[in-house]
Amino acid sequence: MERPRRDDVLELDVHDLAFGGAGVARHDGYVVFCRDTAPGDHVRARVVKARRRFAEADLVEVVTPGPGRIAPPCPYVPRCGGCRLQHVEYALALAAKRDQVAEHLARIGHLEGVDVREPDAAIEPFGYRNKMEYSAAPGPDGALHLGFHVRGRWDEIVDVEACLLASALGNAVRETVRAWAVAEGLTPYDQRSHTGQLRHVLVREGVATGQVLVSVVTSPGVEEPVDRLPAALTAAHPEVVGLVHSVNDGVAEVTSGLPTRLVHGRDWIEERVAGVTLRLSAAAFFQTNTRMTETLYARVAEAAGLDGNQVLYDLFAGVGSIGIALAKGAREVVAIEIVEEAVADAERNAAANGVANHTAIAGDVGVVLRERKGELPEPDVAIVDPPRGGLAGRAIRRILELAPPTLVYVSCQPATFADNAAKFVEGGYTLEWVRPVDMFPQTPHIEAVARFVR
Ligand SMILES: C[S@@+](CC[C@H](N)C(=O)[O-])C[C@H]1O[C@@H](n2cnc3c(N)ncnc32)[C@H](O)[C@@H]1O
Repeated sequence: MERPRRDDVLELDVHDLAFGGAGVARHDGYVVFCRDTAPGDHVRARVVKARRRFAEADLVEVVTPGPGRIAPPCPYVPRCGGCRLQHVEYALALAAKRDQVAEHLARIGHLEGVDVREPDAAIEPFGYRNKMEYSAAPGPDGALHLGFHVRGRWDEIVDVEACLLASALGNAVRETVRAWAVAEGLTPYDQRSHTGQLRHVLVREGVATGQVLVSVVTSPGVEEPVDRLPAALTAAHPEVVGLVHSVNDGVAEVTSGLPTRLVHGRDWIEERVAGVTLRLSAAAFFQTNTRMTETLYARVAEAAGLDGNQVLYDLFAGVGSIGIALAKGAREVVAIEIVEEAVADAERNAAANGVANHTAIAGDVGVVLRERKGELPEPDVAIVDPPRGGLAGRAIRRILELAPPTLVYVSCQPATFADNAAKFVEGGYTLEWVRPVDMFPQTPHIEAVARFVR
């Protein structure tokens, strides 16, 4: 087998989709990953990286399209770095996500033959996101570009007039903010020179309540123009219940943890999901696909198998949504979450939904489980829903010590899930089943619910 070199142009038959959205092909047995391709495609592709065991190639030309290739409905594909699977027929992309979960469990976790079930398909293939974060940058002529990073670029933004993952209302709100910025003569922040005023615009919606919260992130010294934004927003969109303004005077492209003031209304919205009404603060995490959150939580309930008598731990609880939705089926719920605002939301949410058997604790899961050991009731069922990095070693050790008979793992990253799953299996658990739930259609992201028993 001769290994291809950088800049070689290869003819490839794509047979699979890899995690991350690239097509997979073989060249003399050597694996080549090629973005923007679909299974069944016959393509020409240029090698951009050649490693010992695999190469990455850029698509040059689709010679013969495969049966799973479709025309992406969004005009910003493939320049926009947001969606990577719009060119793949949905059923095929969904099946590939299932295979990727099984493949990660086998390759990373050495867990073969796991019951990875048929994924729950997305209810809405487009327009499903309840939260969008737009970046600002100057276009070639200096004019404001407001949208998402050009794929592979840190300094260039695709100017988006309509994002197909956002709702019609979310798109309209962004356009109102854009018109305000242009009318005020605000300059977009330039990542190269570190000059300019407008940096980010965030739009968060309560899909079931219709409430919208807008956040703008600017450089210092833009208070006066921002004070005029609520008038424009509320005149055009009565749904807007609040505007917050964060100031970033550093070079890092961050939107959280910044000095923030409330300019108008309130800094939270309400959302309804799984029979509960939730208050979501600007700083609190919430699932970005509200309708599929119903499906996700139904799978969590199935995996938890509560009978009304158990102590339930809701770890990485966010605004407490999972534990509150399941509280009726439990004797007692203990929620642990690191973001203080989210914990305050969780406490209010439990009370507002008439849930009295719920305690929310602020702190790191691993630390709280160690420090409050003996003080907290022992869990019968523990649910973990960590960020993409998965569980830290100490959190895994604490959970293994607590040894809840049932463990439910809600994962948003199959590689860290596979690693963590192996550690639970090593520690005495059986992985009964895994159910992918497609929260992120058109993108390669994978959400899955897993049930472990001791
Ligand atoms: C994927 S979200 C899940 C939230 C919630 N379960 C839901 O369904 O909306 C992960 C949450 O874990 C929190 N978190 C991250 N690291 C943590 C840690 N070490 N200890 C406790 N919470 C943490 C984040 O703030 C976030 O709210």
